[in-house]
This record gives sequence, C-alpha cells and structure tokens, in this order.
Amino acid sequence: MIALGCDHGGYELKQEIISYLESKKISYRDYGSFSPEPADYPEYAHRVAHAVVNGECEKGILICGTGIGISIAANKVKGIRAAVCTDCFTAEATRLHNDANILALGGRVVGPGLALKIVETFLNTPFSGEERHSRRIAGIEKD
Ligand code: RB5
Repeated sequence: MIALGCDHGGYELKQEIISYLESKKISYRDYGSFSPEPADYPEYAHRVAHAVVNGECEKGILICGTGIGISIAANKVKGIRAAVCTDCFTAEATRLHNDANILALGGRVVGPGLALKIVETFLNTPFSGEERHSRRIAGIEKD
C-alpha cells in the first residue's frame, strides 16, 4: 500500500501518479489534498508520514512545488526517511543505501514522464541490506 500526499504545487502530478499506480494495479491511499486550491504542505506530509510509521502503508510519495518543504516536514517524524529525487539514479540509490520510505517530488521541477520513471525506480528497488548501510541508517535516529 502506497500513501500519497501533496499540496497545490503537487496536485497535478499526484493525479498523474494515481493514474500510473492504477494502471499497474498498485494499491494506494490518497491522504490529500484533494483539489488544486492552496494547501499547507506540512499537513499532508504528516498524514503520509504517520501512515508509513504506523504500518498502514509500506511507502509514501509526497509532492509539493519543489519536494523540499514537504520532505522537510515528513523527516520530522521519527522513523521517516524522505528523499527528494529529481532523477532515477538518486531514486535507486536512496532505496539501496538509505532505505528511504518516502519519495518526495517537485511538481514544478520534474515533468510527468520523468516523475513516473522516478516513482517506478523508487517502488521497484529494494534496500540493499548491506551492514554498512544498516549501521548508518541506525545512526540517523541517534541524537
Ligand atoms: C507552495 O507555493 C510551495 O512553497 C510548496 O509547494 C513547496 O514548494 C514548498 O517547499
């Protein structure tokens, strides 16, 4: 189950991602926003982040204008590793190395074709499971 969230800067791209997920028969939950009207990204970041940490959803995808504000907000939730990706290399690397559990995208930064390739890469790349990466991820949570 994939959790989706956006603000107005990401609304259009969220609709593209929904069509993609439906075409691939990938289950998702849409946590809003549900219209292109101005919306505050922390609200949707927190909804999706909590759905991921409480196990309702396995991963999340968050979209705002740049992907930055919404990822900063999501990363405040303990256990969240949200990565802003603008290319497939970083989407693959953040799954392999960081076991990122939320992909953040900028609806004003990446076009829909590239965004869907990034989503595909993020969802289909497993964590490497390598000890050095597990150790570093564990270190993220230390104060
Ligand atoms: C909204 O205008 C914009 O600030 C927001 O979508 C995002 O880019 C923030 O980081």
